[in-house]
Amino acid sequence: MNKMTVNDYQKLINDNIYKYLPVCNSENNIVSDAMKYSLSIGGKRIRPMLVLEFCRACGGDITKAMPFAVALEMIHTYSLIHDDLPCMDNDDMRRGMPSCHIKFGEEYALLAGDGLLTSAFGVIAESDIAAEKPEVAIKAISALSRLSGVCGMIGGQEIDLTYENKNAPLEVLEVLDSLKTGALIRCAAYLGVISACNDENYIRAADIYAKNIGHAFQIVDDILDVIGDEKELGKPIGSDAQCGKSTYVSLLGLEKSREYAEELTNDAVEALEVFGNESGFLKELAYNLIKRNK
Ligand code: IPE
Ligand code: IPE
Ligand code: MG
Ligand code: MG
Ligand code: MG
Repeated sequence: MNKMTVNDYQKLINDNIYKYLPVCNSENNIVSDAMKYSLSIGGKRIRPMLVLEFCRACGGDITKAMPFAVALEMIHTYSLIHDDLPCMDNDDMRRGMPSCHIKFGEEYALLAGDGLLTSAFGVIAESDIAAEKPEVAIKAISALSRLSGVCGMIGGQEIDLTYENKNAPLEVLEVLDSLKTGALIRCAAYLGVISACNDENYIRAADIYAKNIGHAFQIVDDILDVIGDEKELGKPIGSDAQCGKSTYVSLLGLEKSREYAEELTNDAVEALEVFGNESGFLKELAYNLIKRNK
């Protein structure tokens, strides 16, 4: 499979993502519109990109992995819709546009999130991989369920809320970030590898890479919430301080947080060795993610 660029992947994902949205013969389509709105207003598409690139690096066919990639982006997008609600972070902007609840109302935003979450599993169950290698699809559904659920992303969101207006110790922050952000990024790497092969060495290495970039990714997200440019970022800055969140910046300060993100990125890149010549994109992505401004 030919090497791809970030732009190639973003275009491919953006061109394909709508094809997987459910079509209902209903007169009411506010929820469908809200689902489509939140999926289509952009986003960096890091998670689906990781699915496709790990698939490619392991010798797989990325067109086959697309449903895995889309399912994960659906879950991520639902998590953002709910994360922005007034009962959570209460943020009015997302991906440079009004948040889903600002555009459609809280009740429809809640349902749009639910709709994306429930659709995601069907997208995998109805994929070509499910027809050709059902055991791989079952593994994917199981991982997605575990890593997005109460022992994964949701669990992290719970700790995030529990520690509002309290200082979370570093050990708690590590767990918080590894769940709320790390879990879906690890899921991306896993889905990518298993869509292509069943090699334990690749699975293990991809997991170490994903764990470390996921951690660095949330640290940079916390940094950007303090020093980012709202227009560039596409979401409000100062949200963490306003909600009394415990973040790396609040605990360690900007400089130490940056250094920590760099260390984690170096560890991530080291884990790529087993992918040999196929590791270039993933290496560059890891370094670019800590230099990002959105
Ligand atoms: C934002 O994720 C939420 C976090 C887990 C930090 P992204 O920064 O990947 O958001 P989009 O998808 O690009 O909008
Ligand atoms: C959210 O973390 C992670 C999710 C599971 C949605 P944040 O609350 O820091 O994400 P942003 O900054 O709103 O994108
Ligand atoms: Mg949040
Ligand atoms: Mg938030
Ligand atoms: Mg944030």
